[in-house]
Amino acid sequence: MIENLLTPGKPISEPSPELASAIAAVASMPLGTQDAIREILESANDLTQAGADATLADVLQRVFVRSVGEFFTTQRQSTQMPESLIHYILPVNDGIALPEPSETIEVPLGDVLGARRSVRNFSIVPMTLQELSDLLHHSAGRRAVEAGYGIKNVPLFRYPSIGGLNSVDLGIVVNRVEGIESGFYRYDPVGHTLVMHDRGDLRLAVQDVTFEAEWLFHAQVVLVFIHNQDKVNWKYKTRSLRFSHVDLGALMQNLYLVSTSMNFACCAVAGFFDEGANNLFKLDGTRQFVSLLMGVGPMGRLTLAEPE
Ligand SMILES: Cc1cc2nc3c(=O)[nH]c(=O)nc-3n(C[C@H](O)[C@H](O)[C@H](O)COP(=O)(O)O)c2cc1C
Repeated sequence: MIENLLTPGKPISEPSPELASAIAAVASMPLGTQDAIREILESANDLTQAGADATLADVLQRVFVRSVGEFFTTQRQSTQMPESLIHYILPVNDGIALPEPSETIEVPLGDVLGARRSVRNFSIVPMTLQELSDLLHHSAGRRAVEAGYGIKNVPLFRYPSIGGLNSVDLGIVVNRVEGIESGFYRYDPVGHTLVMHDRGDLRLAVQDVTFEAEWLFHAQVVLVFIHNQDKVNWKYKTRSLRFSHVDLGALMQNLYLVSTSMNFACCAVAGFFDEGANNLFKLDGTRQFVSLLMGVGPMGRLTLAEPE
């Protein structure tokens, strides 16, 4: 099968030793992996036929473009949420309750949009638990429930997400928040609680898995954007990866705007080592992985110049 894909319509009679060993390696892989490789080869082939000498980024882009075909099949797609995902629409049982969040944000939206910027300078003052509750609720909390996917009460959140499936989970490294132990937590937006996953001061561990982000050490909290592909793959298949990153952007901007309205410093961080960050937060790196970090907290008085 694989050799036919390498030169469609023209089977290779005598593959080179390298090609023969590559074909043998692919043939010994699980069927799902073989399908993935076939998608990649077909995409590379499309580009070659069009006369391109494609880079990896070109080939991957082509894979995603072709994946729209997955929707226009003759088979009816299920609109029923898989059983294994139902727990995501229910509150977590053993979460630590956050204080009742403030009802509204009083700062005009235009002022917030005008003032928003990345600030990498944090005060020595800790964040209060009330502030953490407000930050999480207004950026990422539940706003309503609606019937969908064969279920009566599917929660809807404060940022748009593909299929309303909320593909980004929010982790929180608590460094300096009054009234809650330092450690790593996950936010449950349905029950508005925090679930502890790791205990202790993680500032040096976070420093170890980031680069050019020394300032992050001083952030009162470090938010960890975790892509949870299981929530969206069942419905969106290959395209889930592409569009769940759009969800992440929407959530990131909410956090920037709510932080600005609270007069908090806030800055996104792409400068982290994938493997190290995934290990630190005990994520498998494939179905769940760190997509972005963000330092947030009360602002220091001296605002540092932006790095070049
Ligand atoms: C996805 C993303 C990743 C970023 N990663 C970093 C980073 O690793 N380190 C950093 O200092 N700033 C980072 N930033 C902040 C940008 O440098 C900043 O948004 C940009 O310079 C524009 O400035 P502004 O946010 O003040 O408008 C990131 C921003 C985004 C949106």
